[in-house]
Amino acid sequence: MPSLDKFIIRGGNRLSGSVTISGAKNASLALMPATLLAGGSCRLENTPRLRDISTMSTLLETMGVVIRHPGTTLELDTANITSFEAPYQMVKKMRASFYVLGPLLGRYGQARVSYPGGCAWGPRPVDLHLKALEALGAEIEIEAGYVVARAPRLEGCDFTFDVSSVGATGNTLMAAVLAKGTTVLRNAAVEPEITQLAHFLVRMGARIEGIGTHVLTIEGVDDLHPADDTNIPDRIEAGTFLAAAAIAGGSVTLERVDPDHLSTVLARFRDAGCSVDTETDRIHIHSDGCLQPVSVTTDIYPGFPTDMQAQWMAMMTVAPGRSIVTDTVYHDRFNHVPELQRLGARIEVNGNSAVIHGSDRLTGATVMSTDLRASASLIIAGLIADGTTEVLRVYHIDRGYEAIELKLRNLGADIQRVDSEDY
Ligand code: UD1
Repeated sequence: MPSLDKFIIRGGNRLSGSVTISGAKNASLALMPATLLAGGSCRLENTPRLRDISTMSTLLETMGVVIRHPGTTLELDTANITSFEAPYQMVKKMRASFYVLGPLLGRYGQARVSYPGGCAWGPRPVDLHLKALEALGAEIEIEAGYVVARAPRLEGCDFTFDVSSVGATGNTLMAAVLAKGTTVLRNAAVEPEITQLAHFLVRMGARIEGIGTHVLTIEGVDDLHPADDTNIPDRIEAGTFLAAAAIAGGSVTLERVDPDHLSTVLARFRDAGCSVDTETDRIHIHSDGCLQPVSVTTDIYPGFPTDMQAQWMAMMTVAPGRSIVTDTVYHDRFNHVPELQRLGARIEVNGNSAVIHGSDRLTGATVMSTDLRASASLIIAGLIADGTTEVLRVYHIDRGYEAIELKLRNLGADIQRVDSEDY
């Protein structure tokens, strides 16, 4: 049974001060399995201490990887890999477990990885991962709920992803670096987490051209060596704190961020009436708490991230006027809507769009987290809601935010984590 902690938030406090942004969860979840590609010790600096990272560590440990995580340094020793399997128990907890498929296949020529099921916000297929690996010469069968993949040695190919996919690009890239010959991946994802993965693979001895563009050209090598790297900052955690400051009002500085990863998001915060200034690795936001309605449409990077959509919607519920949030990446990602409605938000969902009629107030209530970013949106709404908001099932938030309540409290928010009997 997951932790039954809940958050109790008393809304109305303005935020001020600075907050240090942790390393990017989604980059770490790709870098960690990439270490399977070489036998030996790798150090990944700026790895956040999160539940998803522990889940990936546990999975890699079942394969024989020896892992230590002092502070924010993750040390992985991949010298003795004894299993090539990602069991259902792991994959059902976290879809990113599927990332072990590419590196296992690339290095060991075999993998047995549970086929991911549905997810909280609808279907999330893996067809592109499988098609791309088949194009590299893997034989893939689905047996008893598992993807069973084999290939004596993968061979380079020219493959176009029908849809730009972070996970499929990462998985295929990790397989292709050890394939024989040249692989060209077209319509590859350009999210910073994939760029970070590609740079890490290069540190391990991979030969990749076009990093950060939609066409990756990989010259396969015979083997890779262990390497160290420092993770990029988490752009979604950063965006979440910007949303918290925008809605609560106040002046907040985000430390250890990369403003370049957030250019579209920062532009929308300015449109909403916030003042935003950037330095090399800092973002300052000032908000008087009076937000303008601003519509957003999610898109692949550098567009507005789907992972920021729920938090933006929470902000828009108190921006007087009408705004629309459209998700073109995940059409059904609206689990947060009924919970925001419990706080008094006026939102209608039509297809993959939500129309928000912003008012000047929300009212505290008990709400339930349904997934990671939905939970973040409820906390953000709770910061401004009149009275007390209780957010149940915060284990979702612990997957992807490091001590969010401590970071918010340091900025002046009234938020407590308590044990709860409610589930
Ligand atoms: C990653 C992120 C997730 C984020 C998402 C989109 C990680 C661990 N997770 O998820 O937080 O919300 O990117 O930025 O990095 N698709 C297919 N077939 C496939 C794979 C994907 O049709 O085989 C579609 C998906 O349904 C979706 C789109 O491609 O519509 C993008 O999904 P994708 O980029 O693959 O998301 P994930 O890698 O799962």
